[in-house]
Amino acid sequence: MDPKNLLAKRTRNMGASAIREILKVVSRPGMISLAGGIPALESFPMAIVQEITENVLGKYGPGAFQYDLTEGFFPLREALANYLAPKGISADAEQILISSGSQGVLDGLGKILIDSGSRIAVEAPTYLGALQAFSPYAPHYVQIETDDQGLLPESLQAALSRGPLKFIYLVPNFQNPTGRTLPEARRQAIAEIIQRHDLLLVEDDPYGDLRYRGKSASPIKALAPDHVVYISTLSKVFAPGLRMGFCLAPEPIRSWLVLAKQGVDLHTSTFNQALAAEYLSGGHLQCHLPNIIDLYQPRQKAMLAAMENFLPPSFSWAQPDGGMFIWVKGPQGMDMEAVNRRAVENGAAFVPGTFFFARPGDGKETLRLNFTMADEKTLTRAIKILGEVFEEALVDLRSENWDQPPVSRRLRMKPEIKACEP
Ligand SMILES: Cc1ncc(COP(=O)(O)O)c(C=O)c1O
Repeated sequence: MDPKNLLAKRTRNMGASAIREILKVVSRPGMISLAGGIPALESFPMAIVQEITENVLGKYGPGAFQYDLTEGFFPLREALANYLAPKGISADAEQILISSGSQGVLDGLGKILIDSGSRIAVEAPTYLGALQAFSPYAPHYVQIETDDQGLLPESLQAALSRGPLKFIYLVPNFQNPTGRTLPEARRQAIAEIIQRHDLLLVEDDPYGDLRYRGKSASPIKALAPDHVVYISTLSKVFAPGLRMGFCLAPEPIRSWLVLAKQGVDLHTSTFNQALAAEYLSGGHLQCHLPNIIDLYQPRQKAMLAAMENFLPPSFSWAQPDGGMFIWVKGPQGMDMEAVNRRAVENGAAFVPGTFFFARPGDGKETLRLNFTMADEKTLTRAIKILGEVFEEALVDLRSENWDQPPVSRRLRMKPEIKACEP
């Protein structure tokens, strides 16, 4: 028997994550990896975990280890409704669905909404994990044009004029991979478009609380509640290993998601949900979030300063007000997959940007840097290495394209890509 012959059509669309392959290489000792996208271990509130574990055992006893509703542990859903209210999102606890990570919601949405050929709009670039969740169902991705403030509403409008969309997937705050945040006016414009076209928007917001400067903008869920599935997670503000995600979806999408989840895992871990409920309702998130910000903000600052010092002038980047990532654009013609191989040989690694585009081959000259996983000195050392590797790659590029003039870093980033349908 050849197991390959047993594969369903959709399994063939899954494809191993190229990023996982990169992460394997970069976990070698001595390597400074700016490739990961995960929180720092020192950001986990271990003393709080100890305290609330006692509380959970005292409050719920063996009940914390029992099967529970697929929709989620009720005290957690109540705590999440209270957590969402100051963001302008009004929800009853009954409307909130708990998932095993926010990835669990993305998987469920793929399962319940996408047919082969369904037109799904995504930013260019977008979160790779969403592409992985949706791709088994063989959607037709419609890439929407972006600039350094995120998605361009006029590009969404143009995509709609070419044909109906099943839904649009969007990460509006400190986006993965670009770190970009949509300004208020664009959120209003997008809310207006989705209401006018009766279109569903999936708003994925894992990074909104990791704001280091400036004022938060409205969630699109607050502007067009009936047209938005709002997804978030405690992965970045508590601990990702708890796998604690949630969503607030209009009916009947919420009920279909519950059915889909029943078939996957019956429900998310009761004990972990009880811990999360204590973390939120005991005020621990408010206490601990400033510690996480105090850890990451200087790291981001150090990385940006090192980039200014060590990266060649033909490289450009924006300065995000929060999150975990900085997106870099090199000169036209640069192949960041090849450059990353050279960087790894020199002891530092990043993720080539091309992996984050729905259309294969786009974004070859871009890359994502993560600043949460290393201290300031290490980040500075890594950027110095990357600066040297980029200079070498530029010499090679110039010898191939000797007639191309250098690009100024002071230019604002141009839109990434034309709206396209691969
Ligand atoms: C945009 C985005 N969505 C969803 C996730 C998944 O998060 P989790 O499943 O840990 O909640 C991530 C993780 O990095 C992400 O960056």
